[in-house]
Amino acid sequence: MLDMLVRNATLPDGRKGIDIAVENGKISAIGESIQTPAKQQIDAAGCLVTPPFVDSHFHMDSALSLGQPRLNQSGTLLEGIQIWGELKPDLTVEAIKQRALQMCRWSIARGTLCIRSHVDICDDRLLAVQALLEVREEMKPYLDLQLVAFPQDGFLRYGRSRENLLRALDMGVDVVGGIPHFERTMDEGASAVRQLCEIAEQRGLQVDMHCDESDDPHSRHIETLAFETQRLGLQGRVTGSHLTSMHSMDNYYVSKLLPLMREAGLHVVANPLINITLQGRHDSYPKRRGMTRVPELIQAGINVAFGHDCVMDPWYSLGSHDMLEVANMGLHVAQMTGLEQMRQAFAAVTENGARVLGLEGYGLDVGCHADFVVLQAQSPVEALQLKPNRLFVVRRGQVIARTPAQENFVSLGAGEESLSFSTGRF
Ligand code: FE2
Repeated sequence: MLDMLVRNATLPDGRKGIDIAVENGKISAIGESIQTPAKQQIDAAGCLVTPPFVDSHFHMDSALSLGQPRLNQSGTLLEGIQIWGELKPDLTVEAIKQRALQMCRWSIARGTLCIRSHVDICDDRLLAVQALLEVREEMKPYLDLQLVAFPQDGFLRYGRSRENLLRALDMGVDVVGGIPHFERTMDEGASAVRQLCEIAEQRGLQVDMHCDESDDPHSRHIETLAFETQRLGLQGRVTGSHLTSMHSMDNYYVSKLLPLMREAGLHVVANPLINITLQGRHDSYPKRRGMTRVPELIQAGINVAFGHDCVMDPWYSLGSHDMLEVANMGLHVAQMTGLEQMRQAFAAVTENGARVLGLEGYGLDVGCHADFVVLQAQSPVEALQLKPNRLFVVRRGQVIARTPAQENFVSLGAGEESLSFSTGRF
């Protein structure tokens, strides 16, 4: 007797009429016409079943703090950092935890079950670290939360960053972060990248840096990050987040940079919602979009994921942790409107994100964790078009969230009995 059987699923790769068998929290079989009885059955009725959405770049310590203590009037990254600095002295573990737990509930409802969150370590009390470590533990049955030690005020610019970062890692934070473009000089930025990569190498950890989140074409810390990754043998374990300066860089320089990034096995995370909002704020017209060069990075063979980055905080006053909204914005900003490019945008919030996090057992293969989402759509492209309801969110073989089907979708040419909720164009 199976624990769960999902019938008649459409998979992200286009296979239709697929059944998924679940035993002991894992996928035990996947294919057509599985006849084994099961304790629980879900009729997917031809809907898309995808591995959970992955947010590869998030800030859970600031999420849902919008307006505390004031709103960002200029809309810039720098005013956001200033406002977060004003709130820091008033933070408590309990307040951070409550906001984070609320955030997790939103995430789960939208099928976002794998999250890499940066956590600010430039508060000497490390309250956010303590709070998010507790949240990581409490939410373990429901989602994977990976934490990055993030020196928001600079690794060298803020005097106690090294000490705090090492303490955070000792407490159990998973990944080494950084913010080289916020150091006082380019040289200091390069030095921070080197030192942080060395810490990761010594401790056997991954690296994920906010890197070149700027419109300055001369912000080239990504080059140093690629170099240090190679020098220290960290290939495949290092991520450059944002990389917005690449938008403004000289094309010739980028033609040299992309192969270096590929050679170092770097992952890239773009954050379309936030980059389109924060970048280009010093421009009049034409106004730069500021997002990194996503299609060119993919073309160069580099793994690119999309992150949400912020939800209702000093940097971004919108969002509900819906990764389909992120993918949708990403494909608009990068003009990825071709059919294959739209599929790549969907992968950027699912499997590519899982590669950034280094998740094991992610996917819809036999032996993978029984973690998946049934969407009220028939393909990844249709999911991007409709941003449909997440009918079932399953974690380790248990339904942990449900949303009823929307009834006002138009069905073109499908019989009533087929439960074709959507337009079925692809
Ligand atoms: Fe960020």
